[in-house]
Amino acid sequence: MSERVYQKCININCSATFSVAEPLFACRSCGDLLDVQYDWEHLEVPGNLGWFEQRWSTRHEPLDWSGVWRFRELLPFCSTRDCVTVGEGQTILQRNDHVAEYTDSAPGSVYLQYEGMNPSGSFKDNGMTAATSHAKMVGAENVACASTGNTSASIALYAHACDLGCTVFIGSGRIAYGKLSQALDYGAKTIQIKGDFDDCMRQVQDVCRKENIYLVNSLNPFRLEGQKTIMYRVLEALRWQSPDWIVVPGGNLGNSSAFGKAFLELKHLGLIDKVPRLAIINAKGANTLYELYENQGIRFNGGDVEVGKVNQYYQELDDSGYRPDTVATAIEISRPVNLKKCLRALEICNGVVRDVSDEDIVEAKSVVGRFGIGCEPASGASVAGLKLLREQGIIGSNEMAVCILTGHQLKDPNCTVNYHIEQDGRFSNSPIEVDNDIDAIIKAIKS
Ligand code: F0G
Repeated sequence: MSERVYQKCININCSATFSVAEPLFACRSCGDLLDVQYDWEHLEVPGNLGWFEQRWSTRHEPLDWSGVWRFRELLPFCSTRDCVTVGEGQTILQRNDHVAEYTDSAPGSVYLQYEGMNPSGSFKDNGMTAATSHAKMVGAENVACASTGNTSASIALYAHACDLGCTVFIGSGRIAYGKLSQALDYGAKTIQIKGDFDDCMRQVQDVCRKENIYLVNSLNPFRLEGQKTIMYRVLEALRWQSPDWIVVPGGNLGNSSAFGKAFLELKHLGLIDKVPRLAIINAKGANTLYELYENQGIRFNGGDVEVGKVNQYYQELDDSGYRPDTVATAIEISRPVNLKKCLRALEICNGVVRDVSDEDIVEAKSVVGRFGIGCEPASGASVAGLKLLREQGIIGSNEMAVCILTGHQLKDPNCTVNYHIEQDGRFSNSPIEVDNDIDAIIKAIKS
């Protein structure tokens, strides 16, 4: 096994290590989550983050163009020969003073990170470019995932880009049509299970184990390596300065886990002075993390998580027949698989967790649409969360907050049209029906 890069179980009572050549999504000894670990002292790492700017002048090279692989020294688990790219990570960090005003923050303090600009329209591409690179590296032929929509769209795109067979599992509940249409169009074998996302997640793991299929959900530690780069691009856009806060929606908790690891490593490498605080925002209808972290006080505790309490909470969900339910279908998840890693991220980043209502999510989303480039409902949760944290005085009005907008505005047009036509919301903008008559049309324009 290469000593410089390996997989390591995050359970401190286990800490088993495995070669990167092994396609694993759980520790073979104890079943816990795995990390990709680097022996940084024996790897070539730039002395400062500004070093990466040299890649801007070699953008004609696909790996230097990629918003993931241009930071490859910070995720050095595969050789450049194995890297799969379709041009991911051309994202925008936008200062948005209207959103600042909406959240009662000072002008210049609120930034929006548009991950919907990615090729498949969500942040998932950051992860899939890394996961499929690893899949190719270990000689996998087939990949699979469970998904609330975006993961399936993303893997379907990357799988056909690098010739992998692809199966996606979706629940029979709500999946936004933008996302479903992508998985179908990109040619994924789409299995619709009579159940919700959590059921799909359980099934896909069993199927992958049984059929030796490469799993690309965020249990896959290599996928999360790609998602670290979202933070590198935020820092890059801020001239390598850390913001005060990163605000991100929480579903399966892969993103937040990856962000925590990114900052832990950057700090360890002496590449940043300050680690931003992390705010993770659940939807009220799928608020497991909020309940466990804020109400039950579950903490990472250096890896010694009170698993008994977590399992008891899940048992209670089962006993009461609970099913998560939110307009933000992307984060309609009640058993987040990355819970432990996310708790670690909250520890690293002195984090907080909040939950926001569907009404708040849809309104915040409409503000991003009205004054920015737009986003899907789950992404609106981060702006709604910032507003709440401002009201609660947890985030100061002058503190710089970056809201991660995880998915594109066109992913879920039904939600948007419904808000504008059916709901009488603060930012609703419904079409005006007029007779087929020029005077009536002009009257309506002037009204
Ligand atoms: N935002 C969007 C748009 C998503 O699609 C997801 C997750 C999240 C936020 C939550 O991110 O899981 O890292 O906490 N979507 C997954 C999917 C579950 O299947 O597409 P997370």
